[in-house]
Amino acid sequence: MFTIIKQIHNLLTKSRSKYDLQVVTWFCSQQKQIDLEKRRKEMMAKGLPKQKPIKGVKYIVLVSSGKGGVGKSTTSVNLATALKAIQPEKGVGLLDTDVFGPSIPLMMNLDDKPFLTKENLMEPLINYGVKCMSMGFLIEKGAPVIWRGLMVMQALEKLMRQVDWGEIDYLIVDTPPGTGDTHLSLVQNLPISGVILVTTPQSAALQVTKRGAIMFKKLNVPLIGIIENMSSVTCTSCSADIKIFGEGTSELATDLGCNILGSFPLSQEISFTTDKGVPIVIENSKSTDSTRYRAIAEKIIEFFKKRINYKL
Ligand SMILES: Nc1ncnc2c1ncn2[C@@H]1O[C@H](COP(=O)(O)OP(=O)(O)OP(=O)(O)O)[C@@H](O)[C@H]1O
Ligand SMILES: [Mg+2]
Repeated sequence: MFTIIKQIHNLLTKSRSKYDLQVVTWFCSQQKQIDLEKRRKEMMAKGLPKQKPIKGVKYIVLVSSGKGGVGKSTTSVNLATALKAIQPEKGVGLLDTDVFGPSIPLMMNLDDKPFLTKENLMEPLINYGVKCMSMGFLIEKGAPVIWRGLMVMQALEKLMRQVDWGEIDYLIVDTPPGTGDTHLSLVQNLPISGVILVTTPQSAALQVTKRGAIMFKKLNVPLIGIIENMSSVTCTSCSADIKIFGEGTSELATDLGCNILGSFPLSQEISFTTDKGVPIVIENSKSTDSTRYRAIAEKIIEFFKKRINYKL
């Protein structure tokens, strides 16, 4: 089409008036714009990554929240260890996709560098029976990551594709705060089996978590449910349960049409065990909070049992 118009333009350039020339030049530039737009769309359609499973991995579960510091990583390590404790025969993996602030090395008490296989794939580090991979294993301890978008995407690509997971039934994916490039990249590249939203009950957290949930819904990622973290604090003198952040989580669950999988109070034991690198599920398996994490892990197992025909 553009070639024909160019020919007309050439003809007119030779024979017509200045006015005609202006009209045709304008027309050509419009057509050029349309052609460019068409090509850009074609290229974009071609360029969109196709979802490809991770070799050996059955279910990929994202742990996400729009908000930072609400307990995504704490939840991820406890769910992964709880899944392993309930089903020791199953393979459980934990992938830390928080490139700027990886928490899994500390929380799983791992700080070696991964070995490379003959195929040049990284071998996950293992603790508490859970196979782990994190950017934190690949950079110097304490070193800041000062990368731009493209480098972050390349790092993420490495974490998604260059790990020798072996046989994994549940891969828990800890995500960074927000709903940015990392989340989009994960959803576009991997067949995500479900997402768990972690939130505190205050409006500031609930609002951004809802925004994140809507994004996942639009991208057709199944919502497994919500975990309410830091829901209350127990007064040390009178044992009263104080809802310092309010009680808005059930409204969010209703809005999203999903369940609250469990609630966790602000607990010194959760915080101390997390900092120590021993998830509470391991450190004190009989505690109330460990029982709560295990109950959620059971619900995840149940979720996938019901979706036995889920296509990877
Ligand atoms: N229920 C809880 N009771 C007490 N402390 C908690 C609880 N949940 C998490 N924490 C603590 O809160 C801090 C933040 O938790 P965590 O790192 O899991 O949040 P996050 O959402 O992953 O943060 P980020 O957005 O920075 O990745 C940690 O120090 C953790 O030990
Ligand atoms: Mg985190």
